[in-house]
Amino acid sequence: VTADANITFTPSLILQVQFPQPDGTVFNVTAGANVPRNGLPPSLAGEDPPVIVPSAQSFDFGNFVIAMVDLDAPTPQNPNSSEIRHFLGSNFTLFPAQNPDALALMVNFTPAISDYLQPTPPAESDAHRYVFLIYTQSPDFDEQTFVTPNTPVSDFSISDFATATGLGNPLGGTFIFVAPDNSTSA
Ligand SMILES: *[C@@H]1O[C@H](CO)[C@@H](O)[C@H](O)[C@H]1NC(C)=O
Ligand SMILES: *[C@@H]1O[C@H](CO)[C@@H](O)[C@H](O)[C@H]1NC(C)=O
Ligand SMILES: *[C@@H]1O[C@H](CO)[C@@H](O)[C@H](O)[C@H]1NC(C)=O
Ligand SMILES: *[C@@H]1O[C@H](CO)[C@@H](O)[C@H](O)[C@H]1NC(C)=O
Ligand SMILES: *[C@@H]1O[C@H](CO)[C@@H](O)[C@H](O)[C@H]1NC(C)=O
Repeated sequence: VTADANITFTPSLILQVQFPQPDGTVFNVTAGANVPRNGLPPSLAGEDPPVIVPSAQSFDFGNFVIAMVDLDAPTPQNPNSSEIRHFLGSNFTLFPAQNPDALALMVNFTPAISDYLQPTPPAESDAHRYVFLIYTQSPDFDEQTFVTPNTPVSDFSISDFATATGLGNPLGGTFIFVAPDNSTSA
């Protein structure tokens, strides 16, 4: 993952990602897990995928940028349209945790830069790696024009984006595999 995403990964915190499910429960991402295509919610109509991180870590309580990318589009063997940007959001802050040992929710109250897109690996593709990364938000991040809501989601590079916007290396991250459901065309 780190080689294909061209990132230096020396994490200082644990990033846990949760997806809310229609029945009100949450699906917790386990790093490297195979997640069924139908185990993830459809596009959340602009809602951000909630993410939680430990509250008791020694990092700045400032703003954070969170990204989700597909490294393997259209196929892991020939990822010629990768990365696909599945989510990009800024202004995330740590929601105060009740218990210092508990994971604390990251929240943001401003629009995503790129709305969340449900993983949709094409039929017959092997599983794709969907990677979630969290960065310290750079001071002038809001001036960035590298990605706007109109920027194509394909041929993205989170590494180039981080370089262009001064994000540095990711503070943490996780990833899942999602394989297509070959029984349908969706
Ligand atoms: C990887 O990132 C570095 C900057 O950290 C950049 O100089 C290099 O061109 C990138 N490599 C690729 C293959 O994109
Ligand atoms: C998901 O993680 C949260 C926070 O660690 C935990 O409270 C919750 O019980 C977990 N849910 C499931 C279904 O594992
Ligand atoms: C990209 O990869 C796909 C899947 O292997 C292949 O069908 C397609 O022809 C490739 N496109 C280009 C421009 O190489
Ligand atoms: C992030 O928050 C700042 C300060 O409230 C605001 O100016 C900026 O527009 C926000 N960014 C986005 C992408 O909404
Ligand atoms: C769909 O087919 C591909 C290619 O054979 C395979 O890698 C993938 O695991 C299949 N999906 C499921 C859910 O079995």
